[in-house]
Amino acid sequence: MNMAGRIESLQLIEAACWQELAEATSGPGHDWHHLVLATVAGRHAEARVVVLREVDIGARELIFFTDSRSPKVEQMRAHPEATLVAWSASRMWQLRLVVRCTVLTDGLEVSSRWARLKLSPSARDYLSPLPPGTPVDRYLPDRSSREHFAVVNAQVDSIDWLELHADGHRRARFDPQGARWLQP
Ligand SMILES: Cc1cc2nc3c(=O)[nH]c(=O)nc-3n(C[C@H](O)[C@H](O)[C@H](O)COP(=O)(O)O)c2cc1C
Repeated sequence: MNMAGRIESLQLIEAACWQELAEATSGPGHDWHHLVLATVAGRHAEARVVVLREVDIGARELIFFTDSRSPKVEQMRAHPEATLVAWSASRMWQLRLVVRCTVLTDGLEVSSRWARLKLSPSARDYLSPLPPGTPVDRYLPDRSSREHFAVVNAQVDSIDWLELHADGHRRARFDPQGARWLQP
């Protein structure tokens, strides 16, 4: 690293992106703990915030959780390609990750995570008696005994990295064709 502390090599920039993503799973103190997930919803795009739960650097996979009845699940099933957007104000880095999503609602990958999560306050997010987005007259605190917990596996196909810097912005793409610089 030189250029006043900026990482120079594409290989090290890609590795730093993955390292930051892995660290972001530890909690909301990291800028990338919350990502924006954009999906295709018929003829338009939908976007919302999700929590980054797990990262497998070797497999290039990110995991987040959702309610299996939420509209995004249907959207990802119909159109698995999605984009995750992250912005780090401390690094001044934007990431745009093109991913292929798989929604899991049963099996060991779901039950093992639910077994851990159900003991935490976050469990209530998956215990609502009504599907997310259902119109209601008032706030309904009732919980159902049945969980609607889903694990989403986002396989990263490509990373578009943008760094803002007073000495000049930089941008690069990392995908199966390799790593290369782009005009910001
Ligand atoms: C800080 C924050 C974190 C959130 N984390 C999640 C999450 O991890 N999973 C999730 O399904 N929704 C999460 N949500 C709610 C979604 O942004 C969204 O409102 C909800 O899932 C319904 O989305 P949909 O109608 O597009 O399916 C979060 C919202 C906020 C504000």
